[in-house]
Amino acid sequence: MTDASMTAENQSSETQAHKTRVLSGMRPTGRLHLGHYRGVLMNWAKLQNEYDSYFMVADWHALTTSYDEVGGIKNAGYEMVIDWLASGIDPDKSAIFLQSQVVEHAELHLLLSMVTPLGWLERVPTYKEQQEKLSHKDLTTYGFLGYPLLQAVDILVYKAGLVPVGADQVPHIEFSREIARRFNHMYGRDPRFMADVEAGLALLDADDQKRLNNLGKRYREQGEAEALDKALKLVRARRQLSEAQRSALEAQVHGTGRQILPEPQALLTAASKMPGLDGQKMSKSYGNTIALREKPADVETKIKKMPTDPARVRRTDPGNPDNCPVWQLHEIYSGEDVKAWVRQGCTSAGIGCIECKMPVVEAVNAELKPIQERAAEYERDPELVKRVLKNGCERARAVTADTMADVRAAMGLDY
Ligand code: TRP
Ligand code: SF4
Repeated sequence: MTDASMTAENQSSETQAHKTRVLSGMRPTGRLHLGHYRGVLMNWAKLQNEYDSYFMVADWHALTTSYDEVGGIKNAGYEMVIDWLASGIDPDKSAIFLQSQVVEHAELHLLLSMVTPLGWLERVPTYKEQQEKLSHKDLTTYGFLGYPLLQAVDILVYKAGLVPVGADQVPHIEFSREIARRFNHMYGRDPRFMADVEAGLALLDADDQKRLNNLGKRYREQGEAEALDKALKLVRARRQLSEAQRSALEAQVHGTGRQILPEPQALLTAASKMPGLDGQKMSKSYGNTIALREKPADVETKIKKMPTDPARVRRTDPGNPDNCPVWQLHEIYSGEDVKAWVRQGCTSAGIGCIECKMPVVEAVNAELKPIQERAAEYERDPELVKRVLKNGCERARAVTADTMADVRAAMGLDY
């Protein structure tokens, strides 16, 4: 586990007190599938009960690669939001919004571009990877190079503390932290910050002042983690300090400036790899998905067509569930009794594959039923989705307006 990544378990208890802000986003890809549901959306739906949550349709990020085919983005965004809502993302708890409707993202992107070294962008692993993967496209653009900066902005403009993402996005979160650090270092050592540091120190007794100075020095010069720990504990335990003084002293110990843009952390969810219809990870690019709004009859057809253990050529051939993608779905959807029935029936040729698949068909359809019922409400009334987004955008803007006031002031743009 790196410094930038934590699991849900070890984060929640300590951060609950100040209602940490959570932000995540997805590029609009249209209809979502069970892989999204089990891998991402169930987690978001849980997080929204604990954190101040913001979930964003990254439509500008879609443009970085699809700038030559912009036609489908708007609709894909609406459809994706329907799937979020249907999956239990609750608009009363979470702000659900469109990136392009919160124009402060663009302003901060421009301002941070001033201090973003080209080399940092070129070194983000996804940059070369995606260019190679999408080699039929010309991705030697300014916008595509800026993808990680735009993502950093999405996070920093909300001062989000936690960003739930998959492992593939961790380099982007690390990049966001580096940008925040650089920004704070450059613009956070303003007179206001130094005044807070001094006022804070003045409130400590002489012993504390001396200890804090020593501990800070040991951390900054020798990198002693224990010294940092002790210094932060000291600062946090002194109730006489105001919030601003406390955070200024913490920043001083770290050797950074005022935390105008706090460094976010990735919130890595235990990778739930939802298997697809062919046993590989469920993914649109493999064509092995079950969509959240797949009709029950189509779910049945798709599962009935699934390949099984190749050893079971005839009904009378015994098989081995470990060589069968259907078994992977049983592992997710079936209880111990059904799983025992499968193992016994498969290895003894006591059951046929179609018979074996039926409990999976039923379990998947049972899982999808409430999702599809909720989706139907939004499909019937598109105004409902628009209202959710309008409200979400307003909530988002309330936060970004504050951040931008800080940022403009820090950069001397507070006319
Ligand atoms: N790059 C992310 C992805 O491809 C999407 C994204 C855009 C995002 N902005 C974000 C994720 C901010 C988390 C936070 O999945
Ligand atoms: Fe797979 Fe079930 Fe057929 Fe065994 S009986 S091969 S587990 S589908």
